[in-house]
Amino acid sequence: MSTELIVALDVPDAKQIPEVVKQLPDCVSFYKVGLELYTAAGPDALTFLKKAGKNVFLDLKLHDIPRTVARAVHSAASLGVDILTVHACGGRAMLEAAAEAGNNQLNIVAVTVLTSLDQTDLETIGVKRELRDHILSLGKLAVGSGLQGLVCSPLETRSFRTELGTDPILITPGIRPAGAAAGDQKRIATPAMAAADGSSYIVVGRPILEASDPGLAAEQIVAELHGAETAA
Ligand code: C5P
Repeated sequence: MSTELIVALDVPDAKQIPEVVKQLPDCVSFYKVGLELYTAAGPDALTFLKKAGKNVFLDLKLHDIPRTVARAVHSAASLGVDILTVHACGGRAMLEAAAEAGNNQLNIVAVTVLTSLDQTDLETIGVKRELRDHILSLGKLAVGSGLQGLVCSPLETRSFRTELGTDPILITPGIRPAGAAAGDQKRIATPAMAAADGSSYIVVGRPILEASDPGLAAEQIVAELHGAETAA
């Protein structure tokens, strides 16, 4: 199973996108556009990327009534989005509506529990289950509702791969090459560890964007992923 790099375009406006993309090697073909950039720039955030032949992971974490989410999925598909996120806790009807609207034109993956939440946070919103059980159960619900995969932390990747088999896309943020600053990430793995655990994609932002040589940093991560494949 191969693992690909997605670079998180955590920049405040679309003007900075060409500068980032041009610094990175051609082997970087996938970019993540998140809430900050999409709220600031809208679909313009995708224009340069699509013209440059890049793939787009639009991380909007949709969570609304089924009809609204289905319509947003249609809009994302018409913009050429390749992977879109929704919240698994939107429930089965919302997840099925999203999957149906995606109609295999794009991949839809679910976020289970935000990594900013802990067991106490779950209790305050009335969830009595263990955090880990809640995450696994939401993940199974999302894939069982027809979604193509999940976003998961490095701590969950292996369990999801074991539970769900080889088909679902598993996207793992919280990646730090050995020696890189963790920043605010608490549950981290190296690219090779994530690949060995069965990630389909790793999402990396600051270790590339804030490197003194972003192109080299990206090349080293891709080489580490390929090394992990060869070793597997
Ligand atoms: O800079 P860094 O590599 O930590 O960036 C990781 C990216 O993945 C950020 O855009 C962050 O918002 C996103 N992300 C995350 N953890 C999650 C979900 C998304 O770090 N659980």
